[in-house]
Amino acid sequence: MKPVIAIDGHGCSGKGTMARLLAQHFCFAHLDSGSFYRLFACLKLAMAGDFFNSTYPDSGISKIEDISNCLNLFGQCQWDDKSCDKNNFLIELLEEISVHDLLQAKETIPTGVLRSDIVGIEASIIAKIPEVRSILTKLIREFATSVGDEYKGSVVDGRDIGTVVFPDANCKIFMTADQEIRAQRRLNDMPAGTTLKEVYDNLLERDDRDFSRKVAPLTFDSSYVLVDTTRETVEESFARLVDIVNNSIAPSYSQVSR
Ligand code: C5P
Repeated sequence: MKPVIAIDGHGCSGKGTMARLLAQHFCFAHLDSGSFYRLFACLKLAMAGDFFNSTYPDSGISKIEDISNCLNLFGQCQWDDKSCDKNNFLIELLEEISVHDLLQAKETIPTGVLRSDIVGIEASIIAKIPEVRSILTKLIREFATSVGDEYKGSVVDGRDIGTVVFPDANCKIFMTADQEIRAQRRLNDMPAGTTLKEVYDNLLERDDRDFSRKVAPLTFDSSYVLVDTTRETVEESFARLVDIVNNSIAPSYSQVSR
């Protein structure tokens, strides 16, 4: 299997940005595994009938079928809120899905919806369900084992990538930063009118849930390199991570850049 760089860490620690930049630099494929959890959070929110109509009226999503069609599940979404448990329904849908469907769906659903705090909070709730985790873990592994010839490996970011999904990853990085700094960075990407307190509280809620869940909690051990970006610019963190990766993976891969 081609080399895997696993980047885990707190919400808004910069792991997504760093994973993307490292992937470009080393000519690796990039997967933001949180987006898979977020897609299923969107499905669950869409089960609450009017959620997208009332929260994102311009998103082009008005009912559960709009999302399930993005996931290539045409006609399989017979959600009937009276007779069916939401989580079981989600798990049944997940069993039908390929990694290709998930990658396509994440390009179809508006980024503002997928990356929103409300979807992030719901993602951290469904991420506690063992069946959801085991299916998504399998799909994330499939991503890394099937990267095209144009890539020399993959960079996968998430919460359990180096602990559960790829325990033998060639390089494991755990990213963090002070809670207030992370909230401030996140606020810069939010629509006008959002307050620092709202963003801070949402981050805290998600971190607590990710740390305390029974299955695959957010954690790291001595096989990781810990990177605290509190006092660093994007450029400084990136330079540090390039060094870490160069020291961890085979020289034949480390010298390649686009
Ligand atoms: O990384 P992102 O903020 O998009 O992830 C959203 C949520 O998905 C996280 O708070 C976490 O609960 C869940 N997640 C996870 N395992 C992963 C990736 C994300 O539990 N590998």
